[in-house]
Amino acid sequence: MFSSLLSVLLASSALASPVKVSSFVTLPISKRVNLTGTRTLLERDLARVTHLRDKAHARLSGQPLASRAVISDQVFNEATTYLAAVDVGTPPTTFALIIDTGSSNTWVGATTPFVNTATTVSTGQNVAVSYGSGDFQVLDTVTLAPGLTITNQSIGVASSSDGFEGVDGILGIGPVDLTLDTLSPDTNSAIPTVTDNLFTQGTITQNLIGISFEPTNVDEIQNGELTFGGTDSTKFTGEIHFAPVTTVAPASEFWGITQSVRYGASTTIFNNLAGIVDTGTTLLLLPTSGFNTYTRATGAVQDATTGLLRVTNAQFNKLQSLFFTINGQTFEFTANAQLWPRALNTAIGGRANNIYLIVSSLGASTETGFDFVNGFVWLERFYSVFDTTNKQIGFATTPFTNSTIN
Ligand SMILES: *[C@@H]1O[C@H](CO)[C@@H](O)[C@H](O)[C@H]1NC(C)=O
Ligand SMILES: *[C@@H]1O[C@H](CO)[C@@H](O)[C@H](O)[C@H]1NC(C)=O
Ligand SMILES: *[C@@H]1O[C@H](CO)[C@@H](O)[C@H](O)[C@H]1NC(C)=O
Repeated sequence: MFSSLLSVLLASSALASPVKVSSFVTLPISKRVNLTGTRTLLERDLARVTHLRDKAHARLSGQPLASRAVISDQVFNEATTYLAAVDVGTPPTTFALIIDTGSSNTWVGATTPFVNTATTVSTGQNVAVSYGSGDFQVLDTVTLAPGLTITNQSIGVASSSDGFEGVDGILGIGPVDLTLDTLSPDTNSAIPTVTDNLFTQGTITQNLIGISFEPTNVDEIQNGELTFGGTDSTKFTGEIHFAPVTTVAPASEFWGITQSVRYGASTTIFNNLAGIVDTGTTLLLLPTSGFNTYTRATGAVQDATTGLLRVTNAQFNKLQSLFFTINGQTFEFTANAQLWPRALNTAIGGRANNIYLIVSSLGASTETGFDFVNGFVWLERFYSVFDTTNKQIGFATTPFTNSTIN
């Protein structure tokens, strides 16, 4: 079901020095666009972001959300997803898991039932995942690629779930502290993520992840890549520019950064605000005031059906780039990148001939400390690196940064 590549690079700088082994593993990931149910893409994104923020606030205040409240909250944005095929157990069951940098528990069983096997150890604890439905925790063997296994990985097993058709759960690759308070009885300790375990078990030599997404105008395609323990230099151009994880809460709880955004040559959208980079959010979400500035500058109107901004052909022809400045480095997000792929308009309830924009507002609940989300429409234009060891996030341009595929 999935092909994979394990690259082991052996290098010794001098005969006398010890051999330095660095290794990483690359998984192919597939994009799927399929909006089912009644909520719009934007409503799903906003529900997810509200939930992430509420959960972070609750945890920071020392009063985590009650387990049942978390479990019953069905807010996952399932309209558009990147999925990896992951094996659990011995013999394995293969699950299609959403790649999620906004949560850190891994859980399965939403569609394909979990099967107890020789390597399954039930811990007797319940695990509440950040959204969707979790239930009990097991420790089991996870195989990311043939022969490449993690032992003793904590997995949440869903006993029931709504709204996860065709998807089996989540591969949570956010910061490990997001797993705090997810077990009951609570052990008051974090549950190592798949990346942490790959690192501590010596399978990878750097505790980091590289992610390559690409823009596409088809509703299902294998065009992404998740690399554990290294970066894939065939997927980006130039240097990777790193920024420290922001210290501003609650964005600091996630893969959060501080950035400034400008439209065209001189229209400031916002300066130096903290927000998050999130593979589980589809759109580019801005603080309300910045969104209003963008709307005025583009002349776009809000489309009642999809909730997205819509521009005319004439307005599209005049659309300027957005410029993102992150730790001193500026990344150009082209006019084309600001479009929802037109071939997928009807997949989100829109009209085939309209031009929708992927820039939306975080909404009235916007507050300092979590003021934007660079969702995967943004990540499809830049290679991203999530470095746990050095608490930093890196970005690089790719062959698709200026793609006009939309
Ligand atoms: C297995 O994982 C659990 C939970 O993450 C941990 O408490 C335990 O120490 C681990 N056991 C081994 C043998 O690594
Ligand atoms: C979208 O999801 C629905 C419900 O799971 C399914 O019936 C349908 O075939 C899917 N469409 C595509 C294009 O995958
Ligand atoms: C994208 O196009 C701009 C000009 O519009 C150019 O300055 C930039 O170098 C290009 N970026 C990449 C990654 O090709």
